[in-house]
Amino acid sequence: MANNINYRDFTDDNHYIELAGEVMAIRASGDVPKACIRTYGCQQNVADSEKIKGMLAEMGFEFTENAEEADFILFNTCAVREHAEDRVFGNVGALKNIKRKRPSVVIGLCGCMMEQKHVTDRLYKSFPFVNLVFGTHSLHKFPELFYNTITDGKRVYETGVDDKTVYEGIPIKRDGTFKGWLPIMYGCNNFCTYCIVPYTRGRERSRKFEDVVAEAREMIEAGYKEITLLGQNVNSYGKNLDENATFANLLREIDKIDGDYLIRFMTSHPKDCSKELIDVIADSRHISTHLHLPFQSGNDRVLKAMNRSYNREKYLDIINYAKKRIPDVSLTSDVIVGFPGETYDEFLDTISLVKEVEFTSLFTFIYSPREGTPAAKMDDPYTAKEKSAWFSELLKVQEEIAAKRCAEMVGKTYRVLVENATDKDGILSGRTSGNIIVEFAGDESLVGQFTEVKITEARNWILKGELA
Ligand code: SAH
Ligand code: SF4
Ligand code: F3S
Repeated sequence: MANNINYRDFTDDNHYIELAGEVMAIRASGDVPKACIRTYGCQQNVADSEKIKGMLAEMGFEFTENAEEADFILFNTCAVREHAEDRVFGNVGALKNIKRKRPSVVIGLCGCMMEQKHVTDRLYKSFPFVNLVFGTHSLHKFPELFYNTITDGKRVYETGVDDKTVYEGIPIKRDGTFKGWLPIMYGCNNFCTYCIVPYTRGRERSRKFEDVVAEAREMIEAGYKEITLLGQNVNSYGKNLDENATFANLLREIDKIDGDYLIRFMTSHPKDCSKELIDVIADSRHISTHLHLPFQSGNDRVLKAMNRSYNREKYLDIINYAKKRIPDVSLTSDVIVGFPGETYDEFLDTISLVKEVEFTSLFTFIYSPREGTPAAKMDDPYTAKEKSAWFSELLKVQEEIAAKRCAEMVGKTYRVLVENATDKDGILSGRTSGNIIVEFAGDESLVGQFTEVKITEARNWILKGELA
């Protein structure tokens, strides 16, 4: 495929960081300027927020959870379902009071919602106290846009400019010290008929192979124990690069780096999830035994209407291969209930697939119409009440499966990355390679380390264990 993606270095035009830093040093209400960044949505947004924090840190900002004391409040928004959008509008409305009390506070909105014109039109009309709005494509321009906002006094809006470019070198302030995100590609070309992401994130573009490997190496050398490779469809990594730059090869290359670490990745799309990829996981030293493979529906007619480009048989074929090749594989998935026109019988195919695969856990969603997507124009005869009854039925089936899967783990010993101390005295919480949470007694000094834990008890889908 022709390489029509541009690669640019962010540092070429970062003098706005310095300029904005100088202005904020004077404008700050305290000794140093403070920013409150709230992130909604998926890991892509979390990773973007880490870049925004990286740029703000270089401007001299410190960070706070408390919007009341911030000089800059930014919401990084998600558009994937109506509920996500409603929450943002509600929370933005609440900022009005802060702005009234402290007119100098800068209020900004960014992320996926901002790449929808009906949203920015509504904001412009009804939320005049919002000073800065920028979409996912303008992340690299944040310092300039922010500088214009704090010097010009006018509202700054920049959205809808997909320049098909990958920007390298944007500073990152990672939230975690031993778990980190590593975006390998941006955007999505799949246009599943229900989904807004291709419209909010633009066309698929992969980072260069060597840039990703170099960043993974830096993270491992800096002590990261768990690195999650991110993309909307990681299996199509490298389509705009040369033919050796495939996702399977990328995993192979990262896995060669010596060290004590775990590689995770998300999200895999079943249509290009190859057996080669499963083999790479099975034969690797560092890749987790967790495969998150969203199937969305177990019915072939619905899958076709969703434009998912695989059928039930192909999906199960990959799953069965993974079960055969990866001992103890932990499978998770996303499911949509109530896609327009989905009948109860078709929904039962989803139930039967869930029973057949026996997922560790499921992310279940009731279909939410998204303006501008093909599915939003489809006939949708079933009521919200019917859909929510089916949804409950699915949850119940999955709860039983999860409980059974957890019970099967009792007595076995797993390598666990200790994530944090729980609020229970002396009890730590960690995750297995299969991404299953385990609680066990241990010293806080273990946080951030791998340790062996024997599972002693499964309370429904919560596992308890002891240090082995
Ligand atoms: N790229 C990933 C998913 C990104 S969105 C993939 O294809 O697997 C995360 C999940 O949100 C999707 O897998 C889907 O289950 C759900 N989702 C997306 N759009 C939705 C909508 N309009 N209504 C309900 N759920 C939706
Ligand atoms: Fe949305 Fe489909 Fe792309 Fe996932 S693969 S982000 S569901 S369009
Ligand atoms: Fe939401 Fe955008 Fe992610 S719509 S799910 S934050 S890609």
